[in-house]
Amino acid sequence: MISVKGLTKKYVTGKVEFCALDGVDLEIADGEFVAITGKSGSGKSTLLNILGTLDVPTSGTVTVDGVDLSELSSKAVANYRNKKVGFVFQSFYLEPSYTVYDNVELPLILAGKVGDNGNVVNSALELVGLKRKAQEKARNLSGGEQQRVAIARAIVNDPSYILADEPCGNLDSANSNNIMQILADLHGRGKTVILITHDSEDAQKAERIVTMSDGKIVSDEKTD
Ligand SMILES: Nc1ncnc2c1ncn2[C@@H]1O[C@H](COP(=O)(O)OP(=O)(O)OP(=O)(O)O)[C@@H](O)[C@H]1O
Ligand SMILES: [Mg+2]
Repeated sequence: MISVKGLTKKYVTGKVEFCALDGVDLEIADGEFVAITGKSGSGKSTLLNILGTLDVPTSGTVTVDGVDLSELSSKAVANYRNKKVGFVFQSFYLEPSYTVYDNVELPLILAGKVGDNGNVVNSALELVGLKRKAQEKARNLSGGEQQRVAIARAIVNDPSYILADEPCGNLDSANSNNIMQILADLHGRGKTVILITHDSEDAQKAERIVTMSDGKIVSDEKTD
């Protein structure tokens, strides 16, 4: 369970202070599928990055399973980020010269799993329908395929939380539907999925839609 209380993120440029997050309170239960929407600049990515410890808040707390992330040692933060969280971004951030297999294996190696990772990597690739491309270089894949590799990479450590920041933003509708189906499957397997999207149809596929505006949550509703 993720519990966010009084979260703020302020940026100071010269004498001007800008509040990217302005007192966000949010609770996300284990296994929920939540969409975060809101117009550009409303603070969606800032919030997701803080949930994933890619960024730190100015004030407020993020508590995960009762543990305040700001009280973790740097080693424990790295452990949380590597093992509990799987990120998927709009730009896939694969290593283009690595094979698909090696891209997906990377988080396992970073987590210290250096033995035979074949079964784990192959089952992640199977889940996204790309086992047959395992030995292809990532740069040779289509955009939709690259995003599926990025998802396989995000889930290979069996994280509890999938944090996806506009994963379909660079994809056509067929590929977007494919990615949305994979996220729904992961939700079906018990993962907590937090998806930032500008697409209202995609948002409707989540169980709950949180809408942000000017660094605040302005609506939080269950979908039908
Ligand atoms: N390092 C920074 N310095 C100053 N301002 C920043 C910084 N990072 C983000 N911001 C500002 O914080 C606000 C929120 O940014 P954020 O990326 O969270 O928005 P977003 O809702 O994800 O938007 P989009 O839909 O365009 O991705 C924006 O106005 C942005 O310019
Ligand atoms: Mg963003």
